Amino acid sequence: MSAAPSADSEAGKFFDQQQKSHGYEQLKTLTRAQDQAAADILNGEVQGRVLSIGGVWECYHNPPGLKQLTVLDLSENMLKSYAPSGARAVAADLYGGQLEAGAFDTVVFSLVLHHVAQGGWGECESRIHEALKRARLWLKAGGKVYVLEYCPHPLWMPLQRLGLPLTKLLLKMVKQPLVVMHARGFYEKALDSAGFVACRTRRIIPHRFNEWALFPVFMAVSWFKMPVKIYPKMHVFSGSKP
Ligand SMILES: C[S@@+](CC[C@H](N)C(=O)[O-])C[C@H]1O[C@@H](n2cnc3c(N)ncnc32)[C@H](O)[C@@H]1O
Repeated sequence: MSAAPSADSEAGKFFDQQQKSHGYEQLKTLTRAQDQAAADILNGEVQGRVLSIGGVWECYHNPPGLKQLTVLDLSENMLKSYAPSGARAVAADLYGGQLEAGAFDTVVFSLVLHHVAQGGWGECESRIHEALKRARLWLKAGGKVYVLEYCPHPLWMPLQRLGLPLTKLLLKMVKQPLVVMHARGFYEKALDSAGFVACRTRRIIPHRFNEWALFPVFMAVSWFKMPVKIYPKMHVFSGSKP
C-alpha cells in the first residue's frame, strides 16, 4: 500500500475548507456543461452496488441501474454535498483498508485521481496504478470501473513533469496539496496494466459552453487562469474486470 497519511489528510483539510468557503461550488459553476455531459454517461451506465470515490459525480441523478450507493471521500464537509441522501457515506482515504474485496458492481473515480499526487513523478504515477489495483480488488468479476478525469494534451506533459518542483513550491505557499493531471494515453495503459478489459475512452465535448471562459489552473491560486479551450479536457475512461 502506498499510503501517506500526512499528504492525504492535507487533501481532506483542503477540501473541508473549500466546501466551507463555497470555493469549490463557485468553481463548479464554470464546468456545468462538461459535468452534465459526463453525468449523462455515468447516470445512464452505472449498475448495481456502486462505489463512488472522491464524492459522487456532479449532476448525479437517480441512475436507473443503481441498487446501492457508497460514497468515499477524505473530507467530511465534501460528503455533506457529494453523498446524496440514502447513500452510505464513508469518510476515509481510498488508500486505507476499509472496503471489502469483491463487494461492488461499479467503481467510479470522480475527479479524484488528479488530487492523489505526492512525491516525485514516479510516485505520482504509482498512486494511480495503486488506485486502479484497489478498484479491481473491490469489484466483483464482470464489474466495471469508470475514471472521470481531466487530461492535458500530451505536449503539456514534459512541461508538467519538469515543472513539478515549482508546482510543489507554489502550491505549498498557497496551502493546496499537490495536483498532477495525467494524459489520456497514461490512463488507457494504466487500466490495461491493472487487468481491465474492454476498455473505452470517451472525451467529453459538451454542447453550448463558453470555451473562452477563464478557469483557474489551481483552485487556490485564483489569479492564475487559462481559457477552458486549452485547459485539460474531461474524459470518461471505463473498463471491465474479467
Ligand atoms: C475535485 S473533488 C471532486 C468532487 C466531485 N466528485 C466532482 O465530481 O466534482 C475531489 C475530491 O476527492 C477527495 N479526495 C482527495 N484525495 C482523496 C483520497 N486519497 N481518498 C478519498 N478521497 C479523496 C477530496 O476530498 C475531494 O472531495
